[in-house]
Amino acid sequence: MSLKKFTPNKIPISLYIHLPWCEKKCPYCDFNISIDRSDGDEDRLMKAIFYDIEFSKKYIGERRFSSIYFGGGTPSLVSSTMVGSIINKLNEMRIVQQGCEINFELNPKEVTKDYLTKIIDSGINRVSLGIQSFDQSTLNSLERNHTSHDSFQALEILSGFKGIETSIDLIYGIMDQSLSSFRSDIETFCLYKINHLSLYQLTIEPNTIFFKKELKIPEDSIIESMESIAGEILNKNNIYQYEVSSWSRDNRYSKHNMNYWMYGDYLGVGPGAHSKITTEESIKRMVKLKKVNSYIKDPNKSSTTEIDSFSYDLDLAMNLLRIKNGVSFGELKNRNIYITNSFKEKILQGIDKGLLEKNTLKATSKGYKFLNDTVNIFS
Ligand SMILES: C[S@@+](CC[C@H](N)C(=O)[O-])C[C@H]1O[C@@H](n2cnc3c(N)ncnc32)[C@H](O)[C@@H]1O
Ligand code: SF4
Repeated sequence: MSLKKFTPNKIPISLYIHLPWCEKKCPYCDFNISIDRSDGDEDRLMKAIFYDIEFSKKYIGERRFSSIYFGGGTPSLVSSTMVGSIINKLNEMRIVQQGCEINFELNPKEVTKDYLTKIIDSGINRVSLGIQSFDQSTLNSLERNHTSHDSFQALEILSGFKGIETSIDLIYGIMDQSLSSFRSDIETFCLYKINHLSLYQLTIEPNTIFFKKELKIPEDSIIESMESIAGEILNKNNIYQYEVSSWSRDNRYSKHNMNYWMYGDYLGVGPGAHSKITTEESIKRMVKLKKVNSYIKDPNKSSTTEIDSFSYDLDLAMNLLRIKNGVSFGELKNRNIYITNSFKEKILQGIDKGLLEKNTLKATSKGYKFLNDTVNIFS
């Protein structure tokens, strides 16, 4: 069922590049990864990615990418040459906006001065380090293949690079993680004066080893205590939450992730990558083939679902309401986000229930605390 005639060229678009390889599979990870480097070498994957991007020009239209994200997997396992070639190719195709944020995920183990110099010279201007915890015993519980020493060393090396944005990932709510260990993780993060933190609550996903082992995350009261410890320390250090899992100093938001939550378009290339693309007739979600070899053989193949008028309101609310400070109606209009009449009616219901604020699309503090209930108004 069609919603309306869209104007795709007016909708911002970003690019996600999935680099799938990891040294080992972490027992909590549900991402599309491969630990078998022989399932397709770098060169073949790169060619497939190029082919994919060329083929996807019809989805990009007249637009240029406002952000690019190399995610994984462990992107830092691929050579800096491959990273440089991909960025060159995108520049040659003239599909990169000036001032584009170009992100790269690194495992602390692979952070070297040489590697960083090369990827930054190629155009990477934001790096995110998968530290997870500074506490070695927590890293052991997560069965990570890097040590806390690797993390400190990586931060030391990174501090020598000026002019790039840095973010780190931490996980909380891990089985036997104590409040004092978590407090120390947040305090250590603050010591480094990094401007961005992605703070994820551990989720035990089906199909993971943690799930099979029936491991349980700490009870709700401990999770809540961890969240209030984080808020208290981070706020004291002028770092504020701007999304469910995202915190920053001086509004140094992740532009790439903001585009997802602001319901922008994104093209995903690489095995199992997801895209959301607006065409004149519809909004499509597409997923590429998951296996590295299958993707390499057929990089244009994807499964597609269309967002219909029944699922649109919920899809929109699930993204927009994650933004802690909300989105003004003017901003929604500027970004050409289509608001249905039923969406407007549901906003009024949310206001009546005290879950949404008036005059701007924003969850109240109660609405943000019970975000699932707030989002479900739009179902
Ligand atoms: C898919 S990983 C890619 C980055 C890199 N491979 C790593 O693990 O450091 C991106 C981030 O997702 C988070 N993550 C992965 N699985 C998670 C889970 N089950 N629960 C919470 N966070 C998770 C981790 O913080 C990780 O840094
Ligand atoms: S390193 Fe990251 S992407 Fe790879 S298995 Fe571990 S959590 Fe998943």
